[in-house]
Amino acid sequence: MTKLIAGNWKMFKGQREAAVFCRELRDAELPADVDVVVCPPFPSLALAVQALAGTEIGVFAQNCHWAAEGAFTGEVSAPMLQELGVYGTLVGHSERRQWFGETDDLVARRVSACLEAGLHVIACVGETEAERDAGETHTVLRRQLAALEADDNLVVAYEPVWAIGTGRTATPETAEEAHERIKELLDVPVLYGGSVKPENAAELLAQPAVDGALVGGASLELASFAAICRAAAVAATV
Ligand code: PGA
Repeated sequence: MTKLIAGNWKMFKGQREAAVFCRELRDAELPADVDVVVCPPFPSLALAVQALAGTEIGVFAQNCHWAAEGAFTGEVSAPMLQELGVYGTLVGHSERRQWFGETDDLVARRVSACLEAGLHVIACVGETEAERDAGETHTVLRRQLAALEADDNLVVAYEPVWAIGTGRTATPETAEEAHERIKELLDVPVLYGGSVKPENAAELLAQPAVDGALVGGASLELASFAAICRAAAVAATV
């Protein structure tokens, strides 16, 4: 099965840097048998769409509101993103949950409205270190997934919070186990996220229930992002 590699730029790369990166990405000759997506911050979306036009690389936002318009200061809507040519969005990233009060309810509202509007969605779930240590990983995943429904345009990203930006990656076995659990609850493709790098991508992506990766830090440099995409293409053939 074709693997999906999504680069989550977080709050990095304004227009100027995004333009340079997307042009390089365009010329990087990524393998054809991997699906590639970048998630720039809002101000860089239009430019990324423009720079990647005519390629197979999709542009996703990092968040999206459930209403089409309204008095929601600081939010953007699916129709606004679609007007720019944006193909999908992340929803419920742990940094949104941790710093911006995003709850399971809000995440579910965003996910279903975005899907209904025609966007593709990568919905993020994952336990904190304390939750894992307390043996609550499955309970947390079940709670986070409870309000979501399977959809052809929905992908889940399993991102254990203790592995995000820490350099501590889940072992392939830990990731595989969590992915299997998620797939029992929701029949959708599942990406792994949390310190994915060229050095660990191959063994993570070789796991049968790992359908791709959501990459933060290593997606900001072309060399490491392209290496992860190549590892995904190889993993898909075995
Ligand atoms: P990381 O981030 O690869 O830098 O750990 C992943 C993410 O937060 O999506």
